Amino acid sequence: MGKTLRVLSMLLLAVVSASAQESKPAAPAAEYKIPPEAAKMANPVKPTAASIAQGKKMYEIDCEMCHGKDGDGKGDLAADMKAKLADYHDPAALKDHTDGELFYIIKNGKGEMPSEGDRAKPDAIWNLVNYIRSLAKKEPSTK
Ligand code: HEC
Repeated sequence: MGKTLRVLSMLLLAVVSASAQESKPAAPAAEYKIPPEAAKMANPVKPTAASIAQGKKMYEIDCEMCHGKDGDGKGDLAADMKAKLADYHDPAALKDHTDGELFYIIKNGKGEMPSEGDRAKPDAIWNLVNYIRSLAKKEPSTK
């Protein structure tokens, strides 16, 4: 993104969030909602060794600075942001999320997390899902 555009979008964001705060002062942060169709989406990519390896490669470039080495949640950027991230080695960390939900979060971002958006092909995002799932357990997920 160009510098001017970046500055502009930050300004815009500041204006929008300022006016949002004015209109509902005591409202809690809007709840993050994943559309049910998205949550139910089946993972079309089998968690093969090749898929997981692809996911890991991309993870190291796009995610590790926040989610930490091998998903331990201790990335440098997360520390800077004072974000507390889950340790994906803990099987409890992702157990309440379907693959479809993980896909949605990775594609669209969440809170402080930037979206992959159109930078990543769907299969690349499924590879990421397969990779982070593989951290908690060794046997491949069939979902
Ligand atoms: C700038 C830091 C940052 C980057 C880069 C980032 N994330 Fe996140 N991620 C977060 C934060 C912060 C949350 C928690 C968001 C919330 O719940 O408000 C999160 C949440 C998630 C979640 C939801 C489950 C959970 O642990 O809360 C998944 C899955 C996830 N990230 C995967 C990824 C993947 C895969 C990448 C790389 C493509 C990535 N993230 C890149 C900061 C980041």
